[in-house]
Amino acid sequence: MKQNKLNVGVVGCGRVFLHYLKLFKKNKIPLMELVSCCDINNKKLNSFKYKNISKYLNFNEMLKNEKLDLILILTPSGLHYKHSKMALLKKKNVLCEKPMCLKVSHGKELIKIAKIKKVFYGVVFQNRLNNAITCLKKNIDKNNIGKIIFCNVRLIWSRDNNYYNDGWHGTWKMDGGVLNQQLIHHLDAMINIVSEIDEINSFSSTRINKLECEDSIIASFKLKNGALGQVLGTTGFRPNDTEASLELITDKGLFKVGGTALNKISNWVINGKENKKHFQKFNEKIENSYGNGHEKLLNKLSKKLIYKKKIDEFSWSSSKAFATSIAVSKIYKCIETKKNVRFKDNNFSSKLG
Ligand SMILES: NC(=O)c1ccc[n+]([C@@H]2O[C@H](COP(=O)([O-])OP(=O)(O)OC[C@H]3O[C@@H](n4cnc5c(N)ncnc54)[C@H](O)[C@@H]3O)[C@@H](O)[C@H]2O)c1
Repeated sequence: MKQNKLNVGVVGCGRVFLHYLKLFKKNKIPLMELVSCCDINNKKLNSFKYKNISKYLNFNEMLKNEKLDLILILTPSGLHYKHSKMALLKKKNVLCEKPMCLKVSHGKELIKIAKIKKVFYGVVFQNRLNNAITCLKKNIDKNNIGKIIFCNVRLIWSRDNNYYNDGWHGTWKMDGGVLNQQLIHHLDAMINIVSEIDEINSFSSTRINKLECEDSIIASFKLKNGALGQVLGTTGFRPNDTEASLELITDKGLFKVGGTALNKISNWVINGKENKKHFQKFNEKIENSYGNGHEKLLNKLSKKLIYKKKIDEFSWSSSKAFATSIAVSKIYKCIETKKNVRFKDNNFSSKLG
């Protein structure tokens, strides 16, 4: 790429788009220019102004008419496959919001298309870039924290029924429940910084909110590294999001990344010594549960695409995001069949997507 700014197009101008728009408006992503956007909803499309941005009601038209270096896919989760595929087939670089896709076969296909078309294809799991998470990952990779015995993930968030009344949240066709919409970030952290999964057991319930899928879930794992894992999450807590955490219990100590969005080191006990103060420098102030990762991710990506800088692929890796989507599908499969599910077996949810 010869130009010194990337022309960016967006499909889906809803809630998370406003978070991106704020970053562009504040010039937080200096190497990207937001030039074009698309939404099927005219009202949403015309609810904001930004420079000379061109607006489309049809994604195909946008892809045909605009010279775009990168497409951001910000549509409802059930449309990620369709929109990513459309953009990749047109040889566009793609960054898609989580989840990568709902069906495992779709993820496989998208990774293959990106390879054939020789374009960038990444997925947004912005918490991977939280200072507290990168600090924990570094210490795990350097073998500093001992042998992991347990990994516990907890998500205690609040979503009311208005959230589920928009026609797509909480449905099998377009989303999934708390697992695939909220807890997926923290499951992704467990799989990608602690260990891949060997075997799964899980239960869910629709306890507080009215939705087709679950608002509360618990899953336990045998991890490939031999540790035991547990994730639990709910959107039925009130009145506000209160915790999203990942805790490791090892033979040397106890390590916990917490806050409302994995943004703080809340415990760091090693060899019987509380070392929290030293690690507090990794804590981040956040405005909401999106955290600060989008800005970091978009800036890293622009340097990769413009200057061909080699940047840790982990930040946006679609193959690692795919592992997380496979895990989601298998957890649902476990609930559907009331049987333990092995990660290596070829069995996936028949409800999701
Ligand atoms: N990374 C994060 O922390 C984070 C946070 C929130 C949402 N998300 C993800 O972002 C995605 C969008 O979530 P949201 O909360 O912004 O949803 P939303 O419903 O507020 O916005 C989606 C937008 O897409 C538009 N749309 C629907 N079909 C379309 C089509 N065919 N063509 C063009 N536009 C279309 C809708 O009109 C709507 O404006 C979801 O997949 C969600 O999982 C990620």
